[in-house]
Amino acid sequence: MLDVLGGRGGEGAARRLTGLGILSALPTAAAGLSDWVDGGPKIRRVGIVHAVANVTGLLLQILSWRSRRKGHRARGRAWGMLGMGVTTGSAYLGGHLSFGRGMGVNQTAFEVAPKSWKKVMDAEALPEGKLVRGSVAGPGGAIGLVMYRQDEQVRVLSDRCSHMGCSLSDGEVRGGDAVTCPCHGSTFSLEDGSILKGPATAPQPAFEARIAGGKVEVRPRP
Ligand code: FES
Repeated sequence: MLDVLGGRGGEGAARRLTGLGILSALPTAAAGLSDWVDGGPKIRRVGIVHAVANVTGLLLQILSWRSRRKGHRARGRAWGMLGMGVTTGSAYLGGHLSFGRGMGVNQTAFEVAPKSWKKVMDAEALPEGKLVRGSVAGPGGAIGLVMYRQDEQVRVLSDRCSHMGCSLSDGEVRGGDAVTCPCHGSTFSLEDGSILKGPATAPQPAFEARIAGGKVEVRPRP
């Protein structure tokens, strides 16, 4: 915008902003790398193309900054425009990774829980001190649950880990009141689904549970 509308006075600001943009690429790349390491094969394939395009865009911006610094504004603009074009194409792939492949998003975002109490299973079939997988019917389809019974109290969370979708019922109970995901070690409170340890950034949907008429029933926590 400064190149197009800034006139001669915008030259210095355009150069400084280009430099700041180049510096900001470093933490951005670190965040992307962290997500990429946790991804499956499909995510990794697209992620490599995304990274190569971003590095290309970054190199073009470095050329732009150097040209501007030497006073070749027209050349600096040209490199900058080319860099923006490549980065815009790469941003499409970044959007595909998030919205198409679900990388780095809350995996439980589209679970719609029932509003009232719903039966899940026979209370007799739920042993003490063991993580058990179950499911409850919701308006948008069945929701997987992980259940843990202790001292006649039943604690229930969504089974699909908010981080990358692994099954919490394959995880471990820590200290009787937290569950640790088997994939990357995110730990959630069994009481309210809050995050006790990352890398998950979204809490786990939690349910109230009761035993009524010999059945385990659940409804979302208010
Ligand atoms: S899927 Fe990564 S911590 Fe659960």
